Amino acid sequence: MNIDDLRNRIENEISVLKTFEDLKRIKATILGRKGVFSEYLDALKLLDKDQKRVFGKEINILKVSTEARLNEIEATLIEAERARQEDLTWVDITMPGKVPAPGKRHPITQTFEEIIRVFSSLGFAVAEGPDIELDYYNFEALNIPKHHPARDMQDTFYIKPGIVLRTHTSPVQIRVMEAQLPPVKIISPGSVYRCDHDVSHTPMFHQVEGLMVDKHVRFSDLKGILSVFIQEIFGANTRLRFRPSYFPFTEPSAEVDIGCVICEGAGCRVCKDTGWLEILGSGMVHPQVLRNVGYDPEEVSGFAFGMGVERIAMLRFGIDDIRQFYYNDIRFLSQF
Ligand code: PHE
Repeated sequence: MNIDDLRNRIENEISVLKTFEDLKRIKATILGRKGVFSEYLDALKLLDKDQKRVFGKEINILKVSTEARLNEIEATLIEAERARQEDLTWVDITMPGKVPAPGKRHPITQTFEEIIRVFSSLGFAVAEGPDIELDYYNFEALNIPKHHPARDMQDTFYIKPGIVLRTHTSPVQIRVMEAQLPPVKIISPGSVYRCDHDVSHTPMFHQVEGLMVDKHVRFSDLKGILSVFIQEIFGANTRLRFRPSYFPFTEPSAEVDIGCVICEGAGCRVCKDTGWLEILGSGMVHPQVLRNVGYDPEEVSGFAFGMGVERIAMLRFGIDDIRQFYYNDIRFLSQF
């Protein structure tokens, strides 16, 4: 019986041991019931008593030391595996955190909010009306006669005869006055639609309408309210002028200009060298409009105004192409 052979065999097996699978396999082939030690112990039975004692002892010593070595190797493998897992799940808590990318409100929304804030502080309530509107509210009740150019198919999106996409927020005036008695003091923000598309027009844009009706409302009230509004939005030094104009639903009518916020009156491309920028339409509510909603123009009077929100946003933020608002380009939108 050659114990050195046995020892060499064990050495060879262990020298290639790398994984848990190797370990399992080697444990079976060396220490298992059909392993090499069993073979040797079986062979021992054939020897005589003295030889049995000598070889038996040597085999036993080798078996115990082999078991100890394999246990040691197993512990090393377990530790290596634990370290590997720790590496995989390791978190560097000193790394700077990921900054979340919060959305921002659209510049048009911001401008709406700013306009609403100012008029709320002046006691105006917010009223809304439908985007899909009856011809009656969009035109007829506002004293826009059948032949008026604003009804031209080129400007108005007709859904079907008698129903349009509203071309302005003025129909909300009619809806509010039909629903309540004076005093009325509202603004109406919302989307409006006109068949037009270039650097200064988009087919959908936004307006804020204003309406105040009560006993003794005068043109000077309109001037006072709009002056406060303009100075809140464009700064206390902003100049303002009322220019005679025409709207079918107001009389007298005025367009309001502000001193150019770009060149401060010196003349530039934006104000077309006039030093002034047209900012809104306004006037005293036409007596016929009051009659159309059942108000008595001998009893009450009112003013109305309407402004384009994109126009105001463009001037506040220095944007020269209205279409920028609707490209949804994140590089543009994230600036505001
Ligand atoms: N509705 C008009 C427009 O869209 C603006 C306006 C509103 C003018 C109220 C006078 C009074 O141009």
